[in-house]
Amino acid sequence: MAEDIIQEVAKKIINAKNITALTGAGISAESGMPPFRGKGGIWEKFDPMEYAHIDAFMHNPAKVWNVLLKEMKVNIDNAKPNYGHYGLAALEKMGKLKTVITQNVDGLHQLAGNTDVIELHGNFVWYSCLYCDFRCEIKNIDLNKIPPKCKCGGILRPECVFFGEAVPMEGLLRANFTASKCDIMFVIGTSAVVYPAATIPIIAKESGAKIIEINPEKTPLTHNISHYFIKGKAGEVMNKIMTELQSQSIFE
Ligand code: OAD
Ligand code: ZN
Repeated sequence: MAEDIIQEVAKKIINAKNITALTGAGISAESGMPPFRGKGGIWEKFDPMEYAHIDAFMHNPAKVWNVLLKEMKVNIDNAKPNYGHYGLAALEKMGKLKTVITQNVDGLHQLAGNTDVIELHGNFVWYSCLYCDFRCEIKNIDLNKIPPKCKCGGILRPECVFFGEAVPMEGLLRANFTASKCDIMFVIGTSAVVYPAATIPIIAKESGAKIIEINPEKTPLTHNISHYFIKGKAGEVMNKIMTELQSQSIFE
């Protein structure tokens, strides 16, 4: 990991007034959450059209619950935030970072302490009835009966965005607005191939923000959009950045 880039990024953070982060599955990898693409990815194990499309869920909710949703629940139950999440929460406490825009559904940014999290793909923490207004958290769902049902008899679905469903308009508009106002955008742990999320760093750059990308692998953003590419794992890199910030006395 290039120390000189870490030092330069820390300087940029000290001078920044309004930082935004866009995150993807990679920021939760060190928390034990598998990514979607690549080796060991969820879409290598399950065909998304068979298990993650809204039509698949409506056609056979028990099948989707038994395979994808049970696995997601186990992963989320066992996951705790890592230094990547905590680093972003610390930047918010310092008054630097305002908003996290995430494609993740695991709720780990909120657990780490970030208060303004735009969940572009919804979440797997909250569930709602397909027929009435009932909502509940995943911890209150009994998975002995699949698919789990509401008292009214309606099937419970996660408040995530399935394939075939639109990204929530309000969240997307706010994400675009936030991107256009920030002076630094962190892009952490996303393959940046899913739209509209992948356009958000482009909006930020066009509006004058510096783009700092953290990922062990290059992405379509790396050469064209990112001003800084820090090759490495989110937790390890954020830890280094926070240590560097400390040594540059931001905590005084
Ligand atoms: P992907 O699985 O497509 O990409 C994960 C990214 O994280 C890759 O670029 C990895 O190189 C990187 N990565 C892996 N380990 C990392 C680590 N420790 N630290 C930092 N980065 C790491 O995940 P997303 O880009 O989030 O949508 O995928 C976007 C959307 O595609 C998901 O929200 C999901 C999926 O289909 C829906 O479910 C609607
Ligand atoms: Zn109901």
